[in-house]
Amino acid sequence: MSVATTAQLKAEEIKPKIGSRVLNSKEELLSGEIARDIRDLLEARGVLVFPKIGFTDEEQIAFTKTLGTFAPERAGGAEEISKITLDVKENPSSAEYLKGSLYWHIDGTRNDVPILASLLSCKVPSPKGTGNTGFANTYSAYDDLPEDKKAEYEQYRVIHGPWASLFYYEPEPSLAKLQGYAGIGEQELPLVWKHQSGRKSLVIGCTAAAVVGKTPLESAMIIHGLRDWATGPEFTYSHEWDVGDLVMWDNTGTMHRAEAYDPTCGRMMHRTKLEGEEPFE
Ligand code: OGA
Ligand code: MN
Repeated sequence: MSVATTAQLKAEEIKPKIGSRVLNSKEELLSGEIARDIRDLLEARGVLVFPKIGFTDEEQIAFTKTLGTFAPERAGGAEEISKITLDVKENPSSAEYLKGSLYWHIDGTRNDVPILASLLSCKVPSPKGTGNTGFANTYSAYDDLPEDKKAEYEQYRVIHGPWASLFYYEPEPSLAKLQGYAGIGEQELPLVWKHQSGRKSLVIGCTAAAVVGKTPLESAMIIHGLRDWATGPEFTYSHEWDVGDLVMWDNTGTMHRAEAYDPTCGRMMHRTKLEGEEPFE
């Protein structure tokens, strides 16, 4: 009689405080048998790399669905892949907004329930030395703060909006452009997210405009001081892409950014996302 075997998660750590490489085959990943373990590892490690896994779009969508609820790019949209590139020819509708992705950020700070995770696969890499994707573990960054700072920061609320990130790449926008960004919305969020699991993470990044009740300078010191802390070497991992790599990040406990690349170099990533499961609180 044959005994049915189930796939076991095979993974190795990249850095002590962030990142693991998952070494299972495509078939094992698509079987869904290790989906629960992958979700747990994602929360524990912030970023998971599936080196040269070479998913097709259909396989990426199917794998995403084994892990949770597929999040379409737009409300009510189809279950499809989003093209991530700064090339306006390839991406006329969102290349402009993706300029903000060159700075540390969390996806979906406009929503009450931000997406749980994003999965990015590399179709065409940029030349080596450009276009890495950086990740920072905002759980670890919070955990390693001194106790008095934790107590202070837990009290703060921060206004976030895409308009704040506009100034990173266009310091002197026209009023019409600023009004356009303002129309996307803004939202007040806690600086420290107290997760249902009991863990806590920092909610910062280039969408953070101001700490409520602070002067502009005090506010900038808090927001930029924490970004500087959280993006220090021990909390970060920079992924250099090869064709076929898939990288998934926990959007609730990390920040990320694209490192600079030539928008016309052909760099092309395909993204899927998982629907969020808990509000910022
Ligand atoms: C994103 C993003 C970074 C990159 O897809 O949300 O920020 O390296 N991408 O392209
Ligand atoms: Mn992003």
